Amino acid sequence: MSHNLLKGKRGIIFGALDENSIAWKTAERVHEEGGTFVLTNAPVAMRMGQIKELAEKTGSQIIPADATSIEDLENLVEQAMTILGGKIDFVLHSIGMSINVRKGNHYTNQNYDWTQKGTDVSANSFHKVMQTLYKKDAMNEWGSIVALTYMAAQRVFPDYNDMADNKAFLESIARSFGYFFGRDKKVRVNTISQSPTPTTAGSGVKGFDGFISYAEKMSPLGNATALDCANYTITLFSDLSRKVTLQNLFHDGGFSNMGVSDAVMEAFTKE
Ligand code: NAI
Repeated sequence: MSHNLLKGKRGIIFGALDENSIAWKTAERVHEEGGTFVLTNAPVAMRMGQIKELAEKTGSQIIPADATSIEDLENLVEQAMTILGGKIDFVLHSIGMSINVRKGNHYTNQNYDWTQKGTDVSANSFHKVMQTLYKKDAMNEWGSIVALTYMAAQRVFPDYNDMADNKAFLESIARSFGYFFGRDKKVRVNTISQSPTPTTAGSGVKGFDGFISYAEKMSPLGNATALDCANYTITLFSDLSRKVTLQNLFHDGGFSNMGVSDAVMEAFTKE
């Protein structure tokens, strides 16, 4: 269902790896809503992923960029403005990676080189993306920048490991940079705190199956899917949310405000 909410708007979408990716669904929805964009991902992901298929489907071009490399990001932003024919209206940062998670290192037994790499990819990259856009004055007024996060930034989810710290850092960057972007360029910056979602990054977390079923049972509306997240992101990219900024917006079917639900109680009540 299209409402042409993004007609005439130009953007950059990071992080579409395969059709399960939240960024993939967002790209499809942005296209349906009339927005144009360039797709970008790390060069290594490009070889593994199916991003070309998405590019063809949405009539967009792909510009490889490692989101930790300033050089790559500068090239990306310049090329995006040339290809799209003007400044940028929306940016989706949908990037996350922890080597400690991937290699099964427990939170209490981190390899700090890996921790640092994960922080650079998952959190610092958001600062780098925004600093590059800011310095190049690449955003249109009333533009919108969104990054994806998870509630482990506020509460303990033991197996989320060092990604919990990365997400806390990411959310802080959104607020801190969001101030300057708002004050100087009238651009809004928000994070969406999404339900557990079965994607490559999500499923990599130990105990993900338990995680996602528990959240489903706790949330009055059930878990938000990747498509639900895409739809919410569209509202934040549209002109209907111009004064929403510096927020961490929970998009989780109500999970974050629950104490316990009947469904979870039932599992613990023996009769
Ligand atoms: P995904 O695995 O499809 O996407 C992660 C993306 O990050 C991939 O496209 C990957 O290539 C990209 N990436 C990794 N290193 C990069 C680098 N150096 N430069 C550029 N891109 C790089 O998984 P998903 O779930 O769609 O993840 C998107 C975002 O949503 C992440 O920030 C994730 O933490 C967040 N999120 C995911 C949840 C889930 O349960 N799947 C829940 C809440 C938030």
